[in-house]
Amino acid sequence: MQVRKAVFPVAGLGTRFLPATKAMPKEMLPVVDKPLIQYAVEEALNAGISEIIFVTGRSKQAIEDHFDHFCELEHTLMARSKDALLKEITLLVPESGTFIYTRQNEPLGLGHAIWCARKIVGNEPFAVLLADDLMKSEKPVLKQMIERFESLQSSLVCVEEVDPTATASYGILDADPPKDRITRVRGLVEKPAPAEAPSNLAIIGRYILTPEIFDILERKETGAGGEIQITDAMARLLATQPIYGYRYEGERFDCGTKVGFQMANLSYALDRTDLRDRLLSFLRGTLNVCG
Ligand code: G1P
Repeated sequence: MQVRKAVFPVAGLGTRFLPATKAMPKEMLPVVDKPLIQYAVEEALNAGISEIIFVTGRSKQAIEDHFDHFCELEHTLMARSKDALLKEITLLVPESGTFIYTRQNEPLGLGHAIWCARKIVGNEPFAVLLADDLMKSEKPVLKQMIERFESLQSSLVCVEEVDPTATASYGILDADPPKDRITRVRGLVEKPAPAEAPSNLAIIGRYILTPEIFDILERKETGAGGEIQITDAMARLLATQPIYGYRYEGERFDCGTKVGFQMANLSYALDRTDLRDRLLSFLRGTLNVCG
């Protein structure tokens, strides 16, 4: 079966970026001049996804507005002949009915957020993208995963080798090192302490899941942090279906942390011909001062 739908859990409060995220969704934080959520949505669209499902929450309306027309702004840009900008912001608006919004009414965890999309996803494989993980790559990471899914027809999680001391920040696989970027999963543990971690292969925020995951999430069993975890649900899915880890090709920025977010801004700004030279000269100067 084809992967046509992608779920974006965006109900989180973003407390790590307070006060910036007090009145603004964390997914709207810009990397250079584009919000995090737009990078993730573009990745999905460029991977061939045709239905975008947001699981939102209170105070996330800016995300809906971002992907909608803003007539006053469009008229002003038109009147001022700002054609390139006008094109850019109107391109953001999808065909009606292809972006769907549902709400997670209680903050019960990532697994619960994904479960909130069950009626919209239905009985087919689907992707999940966490906008915090900004993926920079030639071929969209989700496209790389969908290509593998086409032959495997099994759930697939994106993975990366992390520092063994950092396992408590991630879902961790019990699996051998990937060969040709793929490894078969023996088990999954959410945020284990380094001493308990079965490997240093960490789950990165891209998943392709088979719909049977919803039956497991339906049980609403809680795990690490007292939350309904997608990692735990996948560990249970293993009893009936294979799951694979996919080592992506590209670079990841952990925009869920302040330092990762700053690195992303630097990296994307240095890619821009309009910003690169001034930024480089500033950085060189700053590095000299720092010794
Ligand atoms: C979530 C998942 C975790 C995964 C991580 C990837 O954790 O629960 O398994 O490794 O995303 O970014 P969070 O970062 O929301 O705490």
